[in-house]
Formats: sequence, structure tokens, C-alpha cells
Amino acid sequence: MSSSKASSFNKLACLVASLLFLMSAISCEAYDNDIDLTTDYYAKSCPKALPIIKSVVRAAVAKERRMAASLVRLHFHDCFVQGCDASVLLKDSKTIISEQGALQNFKSARGFEVIDRIKSAVEKACPGVVSCADILAVAARDSSKLVRGPTWKVKLGRRDSTTANKALAEKDIPIAFNDLHQIISSFARQGLSVQDMVALSGSHTIGQAQCITFRERIHEETNIDPAFAKLRQRRCPSSPVIGNSTLAPLDAATPYSFDNDYFKNLLQRKGLLHSDQVLFNGGLTDHIVKRYSENEAAFFEDFSAAMVKMGSIKPLTGSAGQIRKVCSVVNY
Ligand code: HEM
Ligand SMILES: *[C@@H]1O[C@H](CO)[C@@H](O)[C@H](O)[C@H]1NC(C)=O
Repeated sequence: MSSSKASSFNKLACLVASLLFLMSAISCEAYDNDIDLTTDYYAKSCPKALPIIKSVVRAAVAKERRMAASLVRLHFHDCFVQGCDASVLLKDSKTIISEQGALQNFKSARGFEVIDRIKSAVEKACPGVVSCADILAVAARDSSKLVRGPTWKVKLGRRDSTTANKALAEKDIPIAFNDLHQIISSFARQGLSVQDMVALSGSHTIGQAQCITFRERIHEETNIDPAFAKLRQRRCPSSPVIGNSTLAPLDAATPYSFDNDYFKNLLQRKGLLHSDQVLFNGGLTDHIVKRYSENEAAFFEDFSAAMVKMGSIKPLTGSAGQIRKVCSVVNY
């Protein structure tokens, strides 16, 4: 866990110092970021928060089923850049260079309007209480469940950043052209294991990718099912003049339901992205892919645990950060 004896001691010392010298304004903030997340964080302060999030997500997914995928991905792209702090939601401003302009997000990350809708509904019920970072975490869980995926108890109590980091997003979020060792080390940098990485990649059982992210794979790679390659080439020709943004499902078998078909596809060399197929290409993750392809329950269990782990990456707690009023801008 994140709490340490040294930090607790510092916090105590800091409180004692402020009492002794009656300087209530003294800042203890530096020592106030070691609090653990809890599942019942809003039980008293905003009991309606979770039901509100669920109902807005349900409406959005009913309207467009892909939205479930987009919301799961948004939480991932948030957590991999300076922790799960809703930094991905901040738009360009005088002080912010938005992560939305990063290669991995530009014309690709989506679902921001849904998060805004959730936030304004939650603000009406309990102003200034529920963070955007927690909304992202709960929306990801609700999305998974709505498309028949696993569910889990979401740990809460994250606060929102006052900064974003586009350069860090470009460095730390993996890309479709990465090889296995690059993907493994990018997850390791976040404290996630090889098994976590394979389980989380199973998110590609839902959602869509643009031609530009898989063109090389379907035209040039040899570890691909030929009929599958041909099918995808029809709407994603090798000439980059057209089709860059044409969509294809990441899971050709069942694109709208969360299941273990993603792993079954990999066994048949029908991974859409280069970064998908490297998980089953004669390397050290083959056995995990094989196991999940044979045992959906094992995949669901590991996925849920890995989502909780990913959701706990460097949260801002205590008095660190803030509770944004509007998710796309820092409070002034
Ligand atoms: C392992 C490294 C990963 C790479 C290289 C990767 C890369 C990508 C790419 C290139 C796309 C298509 C984006 C587009 O064309 O606009 C995509 C979509 C998606 N990714 Fe990943 N991803 C990875 C891991 C993850 C993880 C860990 C999650 C969630 C926990 C995730 C969830 C998704 C979802 C749900 C979509 C579909 C989004 C939609 O339809 O809006 N991915 N990913
Ligand atoms: C498609 O993307 C490629 C880069 O891979 C770029 O050179 C080309 O101009 C793009 N085409 C269009 C129509 O945007």
C-alpha cells in the first residue's frame, strides 16, 4: 500500500507544528498524498454518485454501443499519464497543453461529452464532492458490465490534477507498432505485471480501430490469417491517400460484447493490431493468451483485478489536487 511510516510521522509532525504555533494556514499538503482509496468513499458524502454515473453511462451505451469501449479506454489513457487524475480530460488553455493532442489520443480518444454529462448531473446532486478521476474509473467499470463484461468494486477517493502532460502521454501510452518487450516495459513502468498487461489488452474484445493503426499489419505482416488480412484490406488499402480513419472492429468475432474471443482470435492469427498479435507470436505471453482463450472466467477474474490495480496508479488524495467543477478545465 502507499502509506508509509515516514510519511505518517511527517504528517503528524506537521499537524503538531501547526497546533503549537497556532498557524492554521501552515501547509501540510506535501505530506497529505498517502491515503488509500476505498470502495465506500462517497457513501456518506454523495450516496447518489454511483447510481447517477451508472444511469448516464447506460443511456450513452444504449445510444451507441461503442461508447462502452471508448470509456474503458479513457480510464486507461488517464491512468498511464501521471496517474489516475483525470489529466486526459483537460482541454488546451493558457496553462494546459492538452493530452488530447498526443498521438495516442488525437482524433481517437472519445467519450468526453459523456463524462461532462455525468459530471454536471453529479454536481447537481453533490456540488464539489466527486472527482472526475473517480467518474472515469466508475464509468469504465459500468461500461464493462453493460456489454456483458466483468464487474468489480471500484476504489474511490482520487482527486483531479491541475496539470496535464502531453509529452508524457506520447512517451508512456503504448502504440500499435510496439513490440512485446516495449509493451511489457511500458506496463512495468506503471507497476503492472506481464499478466496484468495481457488481461488488460483483452479490452480489445470491444471497440474499433482506425485503418492508420493497422494498415502495415494487414498489408505487410506474415503472421496473419490471409483471409482476415484480405477482408480488412478492402476498406483499408495500402495507399495512404485514402482510408486513414476507416474503422474496423478490434474483435472481428463479437465486436459489441465483452468476452474472450479476442484471445481466440489471436490463436487464429486474427489480431488486428501489431500490438495485439505480438501477445501470441511464439513469445513469453503465448501461454497466458492460450489460457484466457480456453477459460473466460480466468480472463474476467484477472481483468477485474488488473483494472483495480491500474485504477490505483498514483492517485492524488488528501489535499493534493482538487475536485474540478468542470472536468475539462482546472478550477480557478
Ligand atoms: C497493450 C498496449 C495497447 C496498445 C498498443 C493499444 C492501442 C490501441 C489502438 C491503436 C487503438 C485504436 C485507436 C484508434 O484507431 O483510434 C485502441 C483502441 C482501444 N483500446 Fe487499446 N491499446 C493497448 C492497451 C489497451 C488497454 C490496457 C486498454 C484498457 C484497459 C485498451 C482499451 C482499448 C479500447 C476499449 C479500444 C477501443 C476504443 C473505441 O472504440 O473507442 N487498450 N488501442
Ligand atoms: C494518411 O496518413 C499518412 C501517414 O501514415 C499520411 O502521409 C497521409 O497524408 C494521410 N492521408 C490523408 C488523406 O490524410
